[in-house]
Amino acid sequence: MAVLPIVKYGAEVLRRPTELVTTIDESVHRLVDDMVDTMYAAPGIGLAANQVGVNKRLMIIDLSVGKRPGELHVCINPQIEEVEGIITEEEGCLSIPDFVETVTRPNRVKLRYLDRNGQEREMWGQGLMARAMSHECDHLDGRLFVDHLRGFKRDRILKKISKLTKSGMWS
Ligand code: NI
Repeated sequence: MAVLPIVKYGAEVLRRPTELVTTIDESVHRLVDDMVDTMYAAPGIGLAANQVGVNKRLMIIDLSVGKRPGELHVCINPQIEEVEGIITEEEGCLSIPDFVETVTRPNRVKLRYLDRNGQEREMWGQGLMARAMSHECDHLDGRLFVDHLRGFKRDRILKKISKLTKSGMWS
């Protein structure tokens, strides 16, 4: 198992919609294990495969960041089936470190996916879990939380990233 580098805003792989996982083999299991190590080390509550440079439709979520057993969700080929309500809360992203902004997302999300054994599962998430599901599925579709922002909020973050990039402090 290994902690992988997390790619940052500006990397092309974050903008490319990911490809469905066709076979859950040993290489997929290894990727999942490495992603779990990477997410816990960050630390973070969710991670999508393209954030570690792999163009596969696979994400992990653990709201407890490894502190409580049974809270790690490995979601292969996830699809959002239903959403209910909306809620606006602060969020951030491991690929856009040190920035947080309020984003409006569904308050309840029904996710369909395959677990690491290839078994089909359905799960309703609420509140922070719904937010993580929506945020990570966005990643897998090539979207980032800043895409939900408008006007000043969006400009503020993108200008700061642009400055950091020019001064070599964003890589
Ligand atoms: Ni993110």
